[in-house]
This record gives sequence, C-alpha cells and structure tokens, in this order.
Amino acid sequence: MTKRIVILGYMGSGKSTIAEKLSKETTKKMVDLDDYIEKKEKLSIPQIFKTKGEIYFRKIERAYLKELLDDSTIAIISLGGGTPCYGDHLELIQKTENLASVYLSVPLKTLTDRLYQEKKNRPLISHLDTKEMLEDFIRKHLFERSFYYNQADIVIQTESKSVDKITDEIKTKLL
Ligand code: S3P
Repeated sequence: MTKRIVILGYMGSGKSTIAEKLSKETTKKMVDLDDYIEKKEKLSIPQIFKTKGEIYFRKIERAYLKELLDDSTIAIISLGGGTPCYGDHLELIQKTENLASVYLSVPLKTLTDRLYQEKKNRPLISHLDTKEMLEDFIRKHLFERSFYYNQADIVIQTESKSVDKITDEIKTKLL
C-alpha cells in the first residue's frame, strides 16, 4: 500500500473495524474521524448533536477532516457515515494527492440488523423505535448518499465477507 487511504460508507458498514485491521497489518498510523472530533471537542458525538446541532457538527467535521487530510503521517482515515455527503468534503478528499478512497458497500438488510442493535449512540437514528422504521429510514438515506459513496476510487461489496477477506481485498486492489 503506497497510497494513503480513506474509508467511507454508511453508518454500521464497518469503516472503523476495517481501518483498524488495515492499520494493524501494515503498522501504519490510522485515525477515526469521529474519535478525533470527540477528542478535540471534548464531547461525544451525541452530545455535540444535542447541544450544538447538526449544522455545527458538519462545520467542525469539515475542519477536522481537513486537518487529517493535510497530515501525511496519517496513512489510514475512517470517516463518519455522512462525511463525504456534505459541502465540499468529497472534493477535499478527491483533490488530496496520493490518497485512495474506499467505499464499503453493505446491503440494506445487514445495515438494518446491525444498526438496530447500535442505534443508541447515533443521533440520526436513535429516535427510530421499530426495525421497520429504521429500515425505511436507511433505504431512503442510503439512496441519497450512494451518489457520493459511489464516487470512491474503490467499491468493496462486503456482504458475507469476513474482516480478513475485506482487508485483503483492499490491500490487493491498492498494490
Ligand atoms: C453520521 C455518522 C456517524 C457520526 C454522526 C453522523 C452520519 O458516524 O459521524 O453520528 O451522518 O451518517 P458512523 O458512520 O461512524 O456511525
């Protein structure tokens, strides 16, 4: 892997898990944008949404994304689900030299099953009570966001693949 990589995809698509695994295997430095935001702001993502609102979150998300992109010592970056879908964020990613973007594509049913268990800390979906409501929300949201996700340099279909297999596929494609 000579290029730096940025991992994008919907909430629950495994971005952080795959980024961590890649970092372990390549011994290269990895940063998760959501973790970075929480550390810098000294607030959790749900607290930021609750006290300052989504518009504020998107503004700082851009600023921190730019910091990570500008730091060439960071080889692997995992984004938040919405990061490439707002303002000029995707453009910032695309014009960063020596950087490849990877989209982890996950089917609607799998995302719904995973996120139903983990919606508590995700402010955009935490209010959706039933699995049906969650699935309907994700279907529409994913449709809107796919336009951005599909502009990634590499698209990985992750369905029924292990973390090892997905990581190997990314490494092979980036050789
Ligand atoms: C968001 C996804 C979250 C986090 C925030 C907003 C989104 O990240 O950045 O809650 O807009 O999809 P994960 O994809 O890591 O859950």
